[in-house]
Amino acid sequence: TLGGYSDFMAKEIAEQPAAISRLLKDRLGKHGVELDELSMSNDDLAAIDRVYMVACGTSYHVSLIARELVQDWAKIPVFCEYASELNYKEPLVTDHTLCVIITQSGETADTLTAARRMKALGCKVFAITNVLGSSAARESDGTMYIQAGPEVCVASTKAYTAQMVASALLALRLALANGSMDEDEVRGHFASLEQVPGLMEEVISRRWQDKQAARVFRNAKSALFLGRGVNSTTAYEGALKLKEISYLHAEAYPAGEMKHGPIALLEPGFPVVAIVPADHVHDKTVSNIEESIARGATVVAVATDGDERVAKLCENVLWIPPCPEEWIVPLVAVVHLQLLARYVARARGCDVDKPRNLAKSVTVE
Ligand code: F6R
Repeated sequence: TLGGYSDFMAKEIAEQPAAISRLLKDRLGKHGVELDELSMSNDDLAAIDRVYMVACGTSYHVSLIARELVQDWAKIPVFCEYASELNYKEPLVTDHTLCVIITQSGETADTLTAARRMKALGCKVFAITNVLGSSAARESDGTMYIQAGPEVCVASTKAYTAQMVASALLALRLALANGSMDEDEVRGHFASLEQVPGLMEEVISRRWQDKQAARVFRNAKSALFLGRGVNSTTAYEGALKLKEISYLHAEAYPAGEMKHGPIALLEPGFPVVAIVPADHVHDKTVSNIEESIARGATVVAVATDGDERVAKLCENVLWIPPCPEEWIVPLVAVVHLQLLARYVARARGCDVDKPRNLAKSVTVE
């Protein structure tokens, strides 16, 4: 039931802090992060020399962040593939390749087909899913349940962030197994994850900022989302949320790519959503905001509390509290973009829970 919320999207956005707390509970064991669901010995985990991450849609965006974490922490090369693409090409599988499928429903046909193929090629397949006893869980060698509770709204919100946390735990486990990280480092990153529920609560309490910024899109036909590093993915996810529930065309680019094409779109009033947290690429992204403003674009920024440069440049800022590490920002910033998409869609009279032409689980290839 809706329990006082006007739609499932609002309810599921609000459920994210609790979902993440549930997922983190009892994960920190004697030897760092516990991930018994992998059903692999420490030696087998240590031997993994390549990871394929396979998913569709929002879950694919999770894999893009997961790739950065696994590569940074466990020093293992990662290939992210749309399941529907992998199914028609030849994956480069080694004797020690791990395949991770990420699927909220556990029933996405393309993802299941990819998992079966990777298994036939000799890979261990590990599923990250929300649905107990789903096909993905039944057919994989190990399953991690994100325990986010039923996601009813077609647009995925709490499954996105919970899957991201699950992949961070997987990355920590791999790094610990192969010695790329020691227990203290693992505990340090885990402590950062434990701050996420509180940071998300803070963003949710600032939802009036999203409601206000939604006005920028009133007469828009299209919008451009920009971000760098892990937040290029936040931009992809923000654009996907906006287009699927508001039917407003939106595209996302790594901010540095703007000058290689998309800048041609800019004209007075064109909405640009720039994710520009306090991080090591802040200066660069601020330059992209300046370039956009110089062409008359209306920039909605997602920025960190206290950022005076951004406050001076942009009328509409979606503020996030300071995050303990840069890779935590995508989990926090995306909550604003979920809220923004919802307010834009409602202002345009759309049914946010049941967007046209879409189904909650896509069981055909
Ligand atoms: C977008 C959305 C979809 C799904 C995709 C995969 O909000 O929900 O893009 O993420 O259809 O679904 P799962 O994760 O169930 O495999």
